Amino acid sequence: MGKVHVVDHPLIQHKLTLMRAVSTPTQSFRQLLNEIGMMLCYEVTRDLPTELVEVETPLGLTMQPHLSGKKLVFAPILRAGVGFLDGMLELVPAARVAHIGLYRDPATLQAVEYYFKAPSDVAERLVIVMDPMLATGHSAIAAIRRLKERGVREIRFVCLLAAPEGLVSFHAALPEVPVWTAAIDDHLNDHGYIVPGLGDAGDRIYGTR
Ligand code: URA
Repeated sequence: MGKVHVVDHPLIQHKLTLMRAVSTPTQSFRQLLNEIGMMLCYEVTRDLPTELVEVETPLGLTMQPHLSGKKLVFAPILRAGVGFLDGMLELVPAARVAHIGLYRDPATLQAVEYYFKAPSDVAERLVIVMDPMLATGHSAIAAIRRLKERGVREIRFVCLLAAPEGLVSFHAALPEVPVWTAAIDDHLNDHGYIVPGLGDAGDRIYGTR
C-alpha cells in the first residue's frame, strides 16, 4: 500500500478552512492555494538528499549541506494544478515544469488527455505531480502513467484534499507513489465531488462559474 502524508500543520489547516468557505472570493482562494502549495512543497521535499560542499564564509572555509540527487520537475495537472505552481516555484525556482492537460468526462468521470509537454530529460528527474483535488483518482493515475511511459521512475503526488475512495484507487494503481495532502475528506458524492470539500477547484481558482 502506498504512503499518505497528511500535512496537518495549523497554518495549512487554517488556510484550508478559509478556502472551503463558499464566501471566499476568487482572489483570496487563489492566493491561499499558492501559500499552501509553498508549504506542501516544503514537506514533499523534506527528505531530499544533500551532500557537504566547501563554502567560504567571511570567517573562513566550512563544509555545509547542498542539495544533491535528482533535479526537480513540477507537473501540474491542468487546469487546477496550476494553482499550486507559483507557490512551489517560489520555493524551488530552478525546477522545470511539465504541463499535463486532462479533463474529466462528466459522464464517465474518466480522465481524457488533451495536452502533454515535459522537459526532454524528465526521465532523469524527480517529478512532483500536483492537483488540488484527488477525487476519483482517475486524473492523477492517468497523468502519472503518462510520465511513467516517458521513463520517469521517481514520482510524488501532492494534493490539497483527498477522498478516501480516490486514495484507494490511487494506491491500487500506483502503490509505489507516495501522496502528500492537507486533508482526507469524508466521501465522494455521485457527481465525483469531494464532500465536504471546497467545490470545483478550477472554477474557484479562475472565477469561471
Ligand atoms: N474536482 C474538484 O474541483 N472538486 C472536487 O470536489 C472533485 C474534483
